[in-house]
Amino acid sequence: MEILDVIRNRYSVRTYQERPVEEEKLQRVLEAARLAPSARNMQEARFVVVTEPSLRSALVEAANGQKFVGQAPVVIACCSVNTDYVMRCGQRAHPIDVAIAIDHMTLQAAAEGLGTCWIGSFYPDKVRPLLGIPDTVEVVELLALGYPAGEPPLSKSRLPMKAIAARNHWEQALQDSEKGA
Ligand SMILES: Cc1cc2nc3c(=O)[nH]c(=O)nc-3n(C[C@H](O)[C@H](O)[C@H](O)COP(=O)(O)O)c2cc1C
Repeated sequence: MEILDVIRNRYSVRTYQERPVEEEKLQRVLEAARLAPSARNMQEARFVVVTEPSLRSALVEAANGQKFVGQAPVVIACCSVNTDYVMRCGQRAHPIDVAIAIDHMTLQAAAEGLGTCWIGSFYPDKVRPLLGIPDTVEVVELLALGYPAGEPPLSKSRLPMKAIAARNHWEQALQDSEKGA
């Protein structure tokens, strides 16, 4: 599949089949994360792959009661072991680096016929003790992974191109979209 088709096909999956994810597919999803770029090539992203049903159930509460977190056969806690580096542009590198790795995983998963959902609505302090993650490690996101149970949405709700990209100069259209116009 062309990469743009994979991107078009990916959507947030919030209902999952019980069917487990094959180990080879899981390994390819994780390989996509391993190959992701990072600032200064720091490679600070770390992943705890949760398949144990009792842990997945416990993660539901840690994820603000989102039930699909317990339903997905795999939940990946996406962490960073280095949270210090601030780039010259003023942005912290680690959430960006971890996000790139997650995006790689979501796209590889989509190419494998698997579904994913980013989970930012969770309490890191509830996740850490469940998974034995040290306090020094930041839990940046959770990612649900598994075979989708439902149908994909008919379309994506996205801004039009002119609202998000301008050529050579900032344009009023970009400003308007910021205001939700
Ligand atoms: C950083 C981030 C955090 C998110 N957190 C959650 C979440 O906690 N729960 C959820 O159901 N979806 C979550 N989402 C999914 C978004 O709601 C979804 O990506 C967005 O609505 C676009 O829909 P799509 O992924 O189907 O294209 C998150 C997405 C991102 C990128």
